[in-house]
This record gives sequence, structure tokens and C-alpha cells, in this order.
Amino acid sequence: MPASLVIEGGTPLRGEVWASAAKNAALPLMCASLLTDAPIVLENVPDLADVATIQKLLEGLGAEIGDEGSGRLTLRTERLRSHEAPYDLVSTMRASVMVLGPLVARSGRARVALPGGCAIGLRPIDLHLKGLATLGAEIVLDQGYVEARASRLRGGRIHLDPVTVTGTENLMMAAVLAEGTTAIENAAREPEVEDLARLLEKMGAKIHGAGSSRIEIEGVEALGGARHRILPDRIEAGTYLVAGAITGGDVTVRGAIAHHMPAVLEKLEEAGAILEVGSDTIRVVGPDRPRPTDLVTAPFPGFATDMQAQMMALLGLADGESVITETVFENRFMHVAELRRMGAQIVTEGNRAVIRGVPRYLGAPVMATDLRASASLVLAGLAATGTTVVSRVYHLDRGYERLEEKLGKLGASIRRER
Ligand code: UD1
Repeated sequence: MPASLVIEGGTPLRGEVWASAAKNAALPLMCASLLTDAPIVLENVPDLADVATIQKLLEGLGAEIGDEGSGRLTLRTERLRSHEAPYDLVSTMRASVMVLGPLVARSGRARVALPGGCAIGLRPIDLHLKGLATLGAEIVLDQGYVEARASRLRGGRIHLDPVTVTGTENLMMAAVLAEGTTAIENAAREPEVEDLARLLEKMGAKIHGAGSSRIEIEGVEALGGARHRILPDRIEAGTYLVAGAITGGDVTVRGAIAHHMPAVLEKLEEAGAILEVGSDTIRVVGPDRPRPTDLVTAPFPGFATDMQAQMMALLGLADGESVITETVFENRFMHVAELRRMGAQIVTEGNRAVIRGVPRYLGAPVMATDLRASASLVLAGLAATGTTVVSRVYHLDRGYERLEEKLGKLGASIRRER
């Protein structure tokens, strides 16, 4: 039986909590280590199932990974042993496709399983492939695998539509070793893209404009080693802010960077939370009852789709009606059915969810369906009257480091049951 979390709700959370390093930065940063035969030292690597998955994938490709403790990993791929990202790993974690760019750039060859569908939508990688083809790679689909080959990639102009985060990262990693200059237009502007560019620059890459919608990359012959501290997780930080708000508590998140989460902070304030922003801390004081507000998910700096489910849990308790429109993924409302089991009044029509706030949730057994959906169920459970049991917490373990310990320190009654 997979583990469950048992939550006794109703305690206002109080105190301080640290945001771990960003999962969505750690994964591309680890893949970037494939671009050189020199060591890459990453500091502050979070202890997460997704990080273990990418570690296994990189080791299969020939990386030697030393764990020096306290979250410091040294990754070194002196020689590539394989060019293949197998289906069993790609199917558990779609971000595995980010080895594609580095493998082709370093060795001229990659064979990566196609990720297929996932719980929150189709999530194709057509733009990753189109971009690589623009850089001169020959792309062949063969028995569920994509094979890319190029003697040496050459720079080109790539336009991404829609904006894709891992697509931008994959192509940036491919372009750093290409011959000539690459422009990525309509590039993702997420802080994690900028963090990757910062590591690549330390390795000797020439990148301009990361963090804006046009990134220009001048290819170099080879890259060297570097040391890098991963930026804090803005989604985890946002989740703890909602935990403070939804329980009417008073929580300070350390390692939270306000300009990495402008839309989430704006919506928390509209919902009645009081925020105090420091240089790397954010304090939230929850309202007696949240106010309704509408939001639309969008690429950064818009409201992150990865915070949509958590915010819905909060707005489900608001004094009035809110509308959430999901524009990034077509099927990201699986938490709705589970929140309804706790008493929420939410109806969905296509990509819109209309939420009629209720005064309280009632604890219930609920099932996690994906990472952020699970977080929203935990948040609802913290606010609910009675006991909530969230099953399938392995989804949470993919992206939240020591969740129950951190929430427990804030006063939550939460325990894991096997
Ligand atoms: C990343 C994040 C994920 C987050 C998402 C959106 C990582 C490891 N994961 O996922 O947590 O929810 O950004 O902020 O960083 N699309 C295409 N063709 C492509 C690629 C994407 O049509 O080749 C579409 C997708 O179906 C989706 C949209 O573009 O509708 C955005 O997806 P994308 O930004 O690529 O998400 P990921 O990078 O997979």
C-alpha cells in the first residue's frame, strides 16, 4: 500500500519555514552537467524523488555523481556511456527529455523515449524537436523513441509557440555548444530558466537575455566545470504561504523571493492575506475568511499553473464566488473532484472552474492525482474540520521536501502512514 498523510485540521499554522531549492531548477541544472567532462558542483540540491530519478538517468548515461552531504552533489561525465533515456524513467518523469539537448550537443547523438500523455494533459515535445531540427539535428521517430543526430549543431532562429519552459531549457543547452549564434524567441522567462543560464555562463557559455523573451546564445567549442547554488523553490514557498493563509495563521517563509512570485502574492493579497515582504522572506497573516478573486494561469510572470490547485483550495473557502481559468494545461482540474468530497462547491466548464466559497471543509479520505493537486488536498485538510487522509503521497514526494516535518514544525497535526 502506498503511504498516506493523515491530517487533523483546524490549527492555525504559526512560525517560520524554509523553502528548499527549486525542483524545476535542479532538474535542468543536473542535465547541464552532461555538457562537459569537468565536474559540476551543485549546492542546495533538494532531497526529492524527481531528483533521484534524474540522478539514475544521468548515471545510466555515464555520469559519476558524488553526494558530499548537506545537499551538495558533484556530477561528472568524463565519458558518455550511453545515449539513451529509457522509457521506464521518462514515463515516470517527463523532465527526463531535458537530456536530449545536452546529449546531441556533446556527442551528436541521443535516443530518448517519448513521454506520452500524463495526468495533466497531452504535453507534447514537438517544440523541443522542431528547435533541435532548426539547429541542424536530424530527427527520427522509432518505436516510441526519438532519435536525434548531428555531427555538430549550428546556430539558428527558433520561435517557440506556446511558450515552453523545459523546451527553452533543452534548446538553450543544445545551443551553447553549437557553431554560431542561436536566437530563441518567445522564450520562457521563468526564474529557473535564468538559473540554468547562470550555471551555463559559469561553465563558459555565452548567453544574453535569459529571463527575457528573447535569448541569444553564441556557441562555444567546449564548456568547463562550475559550482552553483540552486535558487529557492517559488512553488514550495507559495504553497507554505497558502498554508498560512488558509488556516488563518501567521507564517514566515525564509528563502522566498518576492519577484519570483509576483502574481501569487497579488492574488493572496486580493484574497485578504496580509503580506510582509523582506529581501528573502515573506510573512503571511491569514484572513478570518478569504475574499473571492479571479485568476488566469499564464507563463511567468503570470500566475503559475503550478500554484493553481493550491489557490483553488484557498478560494474554496472564500466569502463569495471566484473563477479560475487554466490556460497552460488542458486537464489540470483533477483536484476539483477531491476538494468536492471535502465539501467544496466547484464546477468546471472546459478550462474554467467556478468556485462558490463554503464556510468550511470537512475532513475526508481523498486521493492525490498529481504533484500540485496533492498539495491542494493537504492545504484543504489543514483547514478542514476533522480528519483528512490523503492517499498516494508519492506524488507529493516528487516535489515537496520533508513536507510533513515542515508543516509539523508550524503546528500542523500531520503524520505519514504506510
Ligand atoms: C514546466 C514545469 C512544470 C510547469 C510547466 C508550466 C519543469 C520541470 N516543469 O513543465 O512544473 O507546470 O513548466 O509552467 O520545469 N507545449 C507544446 N509543445 C512542446 C512543449 C510544450 O505544445 O513541445 C505546450 C504544453 O502542452 C503546455 C505548454 O506548452 O500546454 C507549456 O508547457 P511547458 O512550459 O513545456 O511545460 P513543461 O516545461 O513540461
